[in-house]
Amino acid sequence: MSDIANVELPKHQTGLSVGIIMDGNGRWAASRGLPRFEGHRRGVEALRAAVRAAPDLGVRYLTLYSFSLENWSRPKREVLDLMGLLKRFIRNDLAELHKSNVQIKVIGEPDGLSADILALLAEAQDLTRNNSRLTLVIAFNYGSRQEIVGAVQAIARRALAGEIDPKAIDVDMISRALQTATVPDPDFIIRTSGEQRLSNFLLWQAAYAEFIFLPIHWPDFDQAAFTAAISEFNRRDRRFGGLVRAVEPDLSAKTAS
Ligand code: FPP
Repeated sequence: MSDIANVELPKHQTGLSVGIIMDGNGRWAASRGLPRFEGHRRGVEALRAAVRAAPDLGVRYLTLYSFSLENWSRPKREVLDLMGLLKRFIRNDLAELHKSNVQIKVIGEPDGLSADILALLAEAQDLTRNNSRLTLVIAFNYGSRQEIVGAVQAIARRALAGEIDPKAIDVDMISRALQTATVPDPDFIIRTSGEQRLSNFLLWQAAYAEFIFLPIHWPDFDQAAFTAAISEFNRRDRRFGGLVRAVEPDLSAKTAS
């Protein structure tokens, strides 16, 4: 608790939008001689702790990269394990998340997910749709390039139907056509495990995000690590392409819909 009490709170009016690439579960397990599944299981515990800590750290939107479209290339057993952990997480935690006023939003491709997972994700989103303390965006079966392709296709269809002039296509229109239309662009992206890349996560949305790459593996990401990361973010000088410390860009148009 004392860590949270000491964190320098953001000056942001509406709260931060933070994305996390939860990497290193496998290496965490391997370094302890444990099966990879144990790393993922402990990863869910770290996820749960991050969700609990987020609101007190000034985070209003938390987007977690939980399963990428590229993750299908892993052994079938591991893919099944990750699907099982998602199901268990929703089944076990949904009531508490709802009670804590957390809204759940899912981004990613429904294609390829089993009917029971799709039903659970729909139930979680329906139940929590009016909650407002924290929006937990679960990126599951997600790929940013594929998301952009989907947005471009939707806009092209509207242009072909004569609903919009191609000259009217701008940054805002593309942002609104993405699955993250109601989620402010991330202020801050955290990646654990020491890797320094985006791996197809929020490519468009991260245009002005600050990044932090932590040397710890995801299961070790606890409240103290989250607090330290947010404190580091709050010390960054964000210029949004300008020369002086800028006021945050107006996201109201985007979040109003
Ligand atoms: C990276 O570790 C993490 C993932 C592939 C997914 C993150 C998943 C969880 C935290 C658990 C399941 C998710 C939910 C939504 C409950 P890695 O396997 O790539 O680690 P490595 O790079 O060390 O092998």
